[in-house]
Amino acid sequence: MNGRKQWGFGGAVLAGALSVVFGVACGGDTPAAGADVAATDARDIEMDVEVEGDAVDDDTVLPSPPGTTALPADAQRDGDPARGFEILAKGAYVGCGVPASLFPVAQQAGLFGDAPPLPGRDDSLPYFLSRFDTPSGVEVIGPNCFTCHAGYVNGELVLGAPGTNLDFGGLASQIAGFQSQVEQLRGLLNEADFTEIERFAERMSAVAPYVQPEVAGVNPADNLAAILFAHRDPKTLAWSKEPLLAPPPAIVVPVDVPPWWRMKDKHTMFYTAGGRADHARIMMTASTLCVDTVEDAAAIDAEFHHVRSYIEAVPPPAYPFDIDAVAAAEGRVVYDANCAHCHGGPDSYPNLWVELDVIDTDPALAVGGSQFADRFIEWFNASFYGETAVFAPVNGYVAPPLSAIWASAPYLHNGSVPTVATLLDSSTRPTYWRRTFDSTDLDLEGLGFNFETLDVGHADVPSASARRTIYDTTLPGYGNGGHTFGDHLTPTERRALIEYLKTL
Ligand code: HEC
Ligand code: HEC
Repeated sequence: MNGRKQWGFGGAVLAGALSVVFGVACGGDTPAAGADVAATDARDIEMDVEVEGDAVDDDTVLPSPPGTTALPADAQRDGDPARGFEILAKGAYVGCGVPASLFPVAQQAGLFGDAPPLPGRDDSLPYFLSRFDTPSGVEVIGPNCFTCHAGYVNGELVLGAPGTNLDFGGLASQIAGFQSQVEQLRGLLNEADFTEIERFAERMSAVAPYVQPEVAGVNPADNLAAILFAHRDPKTLAWSKEPLLAPPPAIVVPVDVPPWWRMKDKHTMFYTAGGRADHARIMMTASTLCVDTVEDAAAIDAEFHHVRSYIEAVPPPAYPFDIDAVAAAEGRVVYDANCAHCHGGPDSYPNLWVELDVIDTDPALAVGGSQFADRFIEWFNASFYGETAVFAPVNGYVAPPLSAIWASAPYLHNGSVPTVATLLDSSTRPTYWRRTFDSTDLDLEGLGFNFETLDVGHADVPSASARRTIYDTTLPGYGNGGHTFGDHLTPTERRALIEYLKTL
């Protein structure tokens, strides 16, 4: 099918409309993201669905350090990781998208740049999109979990790595444009296709004002969940055009996407340990975008335990550069004395959460003024999702496993600290900083991203797109304080400790 010919005069309209949708998904606006994508050869991409043994399951009962509490394990449904990947890549869990009949037009317009395909999937879609049938029988293309949960690490696309080059800022105005363009497609598309794109545009318009962080690279997923809950009846899951609950504040509390390779050790999901009981059912809440009936949700749930098993099998990528073995051995001693009681080690993980006044990192996410406000927690627990899962966040943060932290910069739950070296010496953390968004621009000594320290923050930068390239730690939710557990170490101890962390 020749898209340009078929769509004739509608082609420009379509290309414009689709660039918004797919641009959102791939974060194409992000500075240097394109260069990074281009540098990646699809053949370099590795996917490893090997199931690892339950290496870490530490049930030893030891007293927790002061200010910390151990999180209990809940029973999980076991599944087949290979089937889980298939569902992630081809499943209908988001429930809506752009009619597949428009895909050739988007492809011809070059909207996907050089984004590589998903390894293990034999179609021409970029990795962050999936093709599936909606309940009304229309084949659509929509974003999948890898939009946020795949990322470039040292130039390679790694599934399960955090998508830290996404830029959701400016989404609302783009979506407003998209919706008016969709209107012009009436008559150009057949009725079933038009109904689907209209539905997708309506949902995107409802959420867009609530999912725009101030900085590129941080993620609005928690606010996205909250605004979607606000539009749904918890029992029937029916969508309401008008919100049924007060929406969350439009100011996003930013989060850094966590890597999936931590989940095999973690007893709970999320930075605040909110995700309890049946994790598979919590993971599928991404589907609240367009899954509008309990029947459809139950069908997704019946298979989502396979997705959980896939996620549990995602391996941490090994550090690919030289490690100074002598320094690493010295670093292990420093680690065991200062860090292991909270973070665990190579073969144990205590699953602790740390009270806010002990960890003292930015409190906005933990105090739950917005996305974790009581009405959203109550919505979840009273809903279809709460039948087997529980949402119960704590007033603090989980101390995460530190495997492959070289591959998940920047650091802390809000991504406010660019390197481990600056995390371990709080006096050196930059107040205003910028990175290149090139995943090969790594600081191997400090462990993390190379960064530039700036003298000015958002208040002094007039251009919105320039502002989004600057991480301003004075903004609410973006603070870089706390976690001062490395401050008392000597520079030599810190260097050794970083060398050891590369081995985890
Ligand atoms: C819009 C971006 C986005 C999409 C799409 C998305 N996630 Fe996430 N995911 C996040 C963010 C951000 C967090 C961290 C939230 C927090 O802890 O507060 C997260 C957390 C998680 C966690 C918990 C990780 C941990 O260490 O606690 C899992 C598991 C997960 N997501 C699975 C999925 C699956 C499966 C899908 C698709 C059905 C999906 N996500 C879709 C952004 C996204
Ligand atoms: C009292 C418990 C505790 C101690 C001791 C501790 N940490 Fe942490 N650590 C945490 C918590 C909790 C977080 C998450 C904080 C947040 O995201 O706001 C964290 C986060 C981190 C992160 C960022 C992880 C990421 O991907 O964002 C690194 C790296 C880290 N710690 C390393 C260390 C090292 C190295 C030491 C030893 C010098 C140490 N920690 C000591 C509790 C602790």
